[in-house]
Amino acid sequence: MSVITLDHVTKKFGDSVVVNDISDEFKDGEFITLLGPSGCGKTTMLRMIAGFEKPTSGEIRIDGKVVSSADTFVPPEKRELGMVFQSYAVWPHLNVFANVAYPLKIRKVPKAEIKEKVEKVLESVHLSQYAKRMPSELSGGQQQRVALARALVAEPKVLLLDEPLSNLDAKLRERMRFEIKEIQARLGINVVYVTHDQGEAMTMSDRVFVINSGVLQQVGTPVEIYRKPENQFVADFVGKVNFLKGISENGKIKLDGIDGTLDYSGEITGAVDVAVRPENIRISEENAHFRGKLLSEYFTGDTNDCRITAGGNELRMITDAATYKHFSDSETIGLYITDFMVFPASDSDFRKIMT
Ligand SMILES: Nc1ncnc2c1ncn2[C@@H]1O[C@H](COP(=O)(O)OP(=O)(O)OP(=O)(O)O)[C@@H](O)[C@H]1O
Ligand SMILES: [Mg+2]
Repeated sequence: MSVITLDHVTKKFGDSVVVNDISDEFKDGEFITLLGPSGCGKTTMLRMIAGFEKPTSGEIRIDGKVVSSADTFVPPEKRELGMVFQSYAVWPHLNVFANVAYPLKIRKVPKAEIKEKVEKVLESVHLSQYAKRMPSELSGGQQQRVALARALVAEPKVLLLDEPLSNLDAKLRERMRFEIKEIQARLGINVVYVTHDQGEAMTMSDRVFVINSGVLQQVGTPVEIYRKPENQFVADFVGKVNFLKGISENGKIKLDGIDGTLDYSGEITGAVDVAVRPENIRISEENAHFRGKLLSEYFTGDTNDCRITAGGNELRMITDAATYKHFSDSETIGLYITDFMVFPASDSDFRKIMT
C-alpha cells in the first residue's frame, strides 16, 4: 500500500508543455484513472511516476520518499511498481507460463509457490489453457493479458496500467474491468490506470483525473465528473451531451431558437451554454418544455437512439426501446428535460481536441 504525491509536476518536451503543473495525492489503495483524449499527456504522467521520464519541474514522492525532484531521481527498478505499457511487450522466447513466472523467478521464489501464483493469475486473466503457448501463437489481446498477468503476479504496491485492455473485444474488456478491480481490492494496492475510454474510467475508478492538453480539467468520483462537470470539456468528454445556447435570467433559461423555457435556480446569469445528456430528454406531451421534430431513430436493443431538431438545434435523445417506430419520421413530439447543466457561455469549440 502506498501514497503517491504529485507536487507541481510539469513536463515539457522542447517548448511544448505536455503535463502542466499537476498536484495531488493518490491515497492508499486508491484506484485512480487518468482520462483524456489522445496526446493529452496520460502516458507521460504515468512514465514520470514509474521513473522512465523525469519531470521538468516539480516533485514526485512515494510513501513520503522523494523519487523525482530537481536533485533526486530514483530509477524505475527501485520504485517497487508494476507497469503494463501501452505498447506491451512479452518475451518472445518464453511461453506464457514462463513469461508470467519471470518476476517471481528472479526474486528466487520457491518453485511450488511460483506454480501456484502463476496458475491463479492466469485464471484471473482467462488464459489458463494457454500456459504452454509461445507468444507468437497468441492474438494481440491474449499477449496483452500475458503482460497484465506478469505485472499482477509480483503483487506490486502500485500498479501502473496504460490502456491495458485496448486490444480486447468489448465483452472481454468489460469482464477484465471487474477482474482488475477485484484483484486491486483483494491486494489493497494502488492502481493508476490510463484510458481514453470513459466507460472504463467510470466503472473502475475511485477518482478520475480528466485531462486535456496536459491541463487537469477536473478531479472527482465518477458520479461527480458525470453529474457535476466543472466545464464544457468535461461534460462533453465524460458521456454524451447536447449543447444549447441560451439566456439565463430571473430563474428561467430561454433557449436560442426554441419556443419554451427551463426553470433554473442556479447562480449563472446572462449568456449560457446548457448541456443536456441524451438520456435526460423524455417524450411527454403534458410536461413538454418544447417541441421537436424526429429526424431519425436507431434501435440499439435496450434503447431508442434518436436525432431530433428543435429550433435549428439538432439534439440526440436516448430513450426507451419501446418508443422505437412509435412515431413517424418528421413527426413533431413534445420533449421534457429531466436534468441539465449550465455553464457561462463559451465561444471556444471545446469539442475540438486542444493539442
Ligand atoms: N519523447 C517525446 N518527445 C517529444 N514529444 C513527446 C515525447 N513523448 C510524448 N510526446 C508528446 O507529448 C504529448 C503527450 O503524449 P502522451 O504519450 O503522454 O499522450 P497520451 O495522452 O498517452 O496519448 P494516447 O492516448 O494517444 O496514448 C503528445 O503530444 C506527444 O506527441
Ligand atoms: Mg498514451
